[in-house]
Amino acid sequence: MEKGRVMKINLHEIFPEYELIDCGNGLKLESFGEITLIRQEVTAVNKPVLSISEWRKLADAEFIEKSKNKGEWIVYKSVPEKWNILYNSEELNIVAELSLTKSKHIGIFPEQILNWNYIYDISKKYKVDNFLNLFGYTGISSIAAAFNIDRVTHIDSIKKVVDWTKRNADLNTLNNIRCITEDASKFVLRERKRKNVYQGIILDPPAIGVGANREKWVFENNIDELLAYLTEILDESSFVIMNFYSHTVNEKFIHRLILTYFREFKIDFAEKVFGLSRYGEVIDHGYFVRIRK
Ligand SMILES: C[S@@+](CC[C@H](N)C(=O)[O-])C[C@H]1O[C@@H](n2cnc3c(N)ncnc32)[C@H](O)[C@@H]1O
Repeated sequence: MEKGRVMKINLHEIFPEYELIDCGNGLKLESFGEITLIRQEVTAVNKPVLSISEWRKLADAEFIEKSKNKGEWIVYKSVPEKWNILYNSEELNIVAELSLTKSKHIGIFPEQILNWNYIYDISKKYKVDNFLNLFGYTGISSIAAAFNIDRVTHIDSIKKVVDWTKRNADLNTLNNIRCITEDASKFVLRERKRKNVYQGIILDPPAIGVGANREKWVFENNIDELLAYLTEILDESSFVIMNFYSHTVNEKFIHRLILTYFREFKIDFAEKVFGLSRYGEVIDHGYFVRIRK
């Protein structure tokens, strides 16, 4: 990974239905289609441009954090129980269901748009039969894959988000996504035993997570073992997409992972990505790595 590679991007320019309007003081103001929300954002360390009362005038709802990543929404205007967001580019068109949840997340990580386009383009250019999405959440990357790839496997440890993925697949009239509620590491181990291989894998592991049977996932402790096994389920010709948010990840760490597990891969992209607000302030989206052999 080249030292100091940084991408700053205003996602609204490529994803018109989404906008990071303002950020700062540990919060962000974003719009998703018709709905505007205030949520916590630890990386919003600047001072916001607009005042909090201006934010609240614009917002339909605000998340009030009660404990880490748990809380409730105060609804200022009416917010439907579910609404859809559309991503339309020249070729790739995705519909995704959104809703307010008690974990502050709403069904989409908009910065992942960078991966949706990569997956779509690479699977159009090369023959990809089998694609795996680990830590897949509500499945938008699985959907981007399923347009060009016959067999997409979607893994998440939470049944609720796996069911959400199935609804997103239906919304996009796709029936080639195999949705499995399972611990990511366990699934990879099982595939290794069965000698199944994939030509494309995306993994977006959280800093801390839990498996479907309450297996503990701690990024720093578990990532090496997961990648070691993952290399054994990759086909001769394949690509891997990794996203890392953990505060302990830096360029040196990524360099080590690539040299240890992916020495023969070519790096397509390896950068720290920042999202730009309407006013030019930033939030940190972590590292995006895309490699191919
Ligand atoms: C950062 S989100 C992934 C976002 C997703 N890549 C996207 O584009 O929308 C992390 C996901 O990992 C899942 N998760 C956490 N620990 C897990 C584990 N041990 N095995 C499988 N999934 C896990 C969580 O349920 C959550 O949906």
